[in-house]
Amino acid sequence: MGKVIAVAQQKGGAGKTMLAAQLAVALAETASVAVLDIDPQGSLTIWGKLRANAPKAAQALTLATISGWRLANEVEKLKASHDFVLIDTPPVIDSDARRAIRGADLVLIPLNPAPPDLWAAEGTLKLAAEEKRKTALIFNRAPAASRLRKRLEAEIAARGLILLDSALANRAGYANAFADGLGVTEAGPSTQAAAEIRAAVLALKAAIGS
Ligand SMILES: Nc1ncnc2c1ncn2[C@@H]1O[C@H](COP(=O)(O)OP(=O)(O)OP(=O)(O)O)[C@@H](O)[C@H]1O
Ligand SMILES: [Mg+2]
Repeated sequence: MGKVIAVAQQKGGAGKTMLAAQLAVALAETASVAVLDIDPQGSLTIWGKLRANAPKAAQALTLATISGWRLANEVEKLKASHDFVLIDTPPVIDSDARRAIRGADLVLIPLNPAPPDLWAAEGTLKLAAEEKRKTALIFNRAPAASRLRKRLEAEIAARGLILLDSALANRAGYANAFADGLGVTEAGPSTQAAAEIRAAVLALKAAIGS
């Protein structure tokens, strides 16, 4: 049985879809990976379609789109045939978000290292706690060092929450690769963005215990 990672955060634009895509491609270098888009915005699905014509799309991924009552079944099916299933969720707490979180081995929450993003994550953290799911936070668009980042790190640690020790910086490379249907590890395998995503994959695997 594969591991299911639900990328969730009520705050819009936190980087859920970008992170799901980047992690999926990097994980697929050494494992079989499915991505499941349950967001009606469908950005990950469009990215998946772009991959079909992207010459640099080196990794094979299974792409699925689903919502509603069949979601749980789809997750079970995908996890039976893949090492990892990444679910991209919409910026809302609704029944689909609950289904995705219920089916997840880990709920991954991207956030800007600033208090409003942690406040916005409370709904997702509460839902994960209700469903007794493991959570991990990851800083996205993070400055290398800032007073706010340190303050957030301290607050997260004080609450006993897990923060992946590899943050993602704000890099045009992420948005550019996404726009071409690629991961940064495909678009520029030796870029800093690619190194960052590979480090995030290692931290993610450690958090999930695989
Ligand atoms: N680390 C980053 N560096 C540069 N651009 C980024 C980074 N993370 C995200 N972006 C860009 O920010 C925008 C929002 O990211 P994304 O769509 O992944 O957020 P989201 O949480 O999925 O949003 P929504 O809640 O609407 O689903 C996108 O254009 C994406 O390419
Ligand atoms: Mg999204």
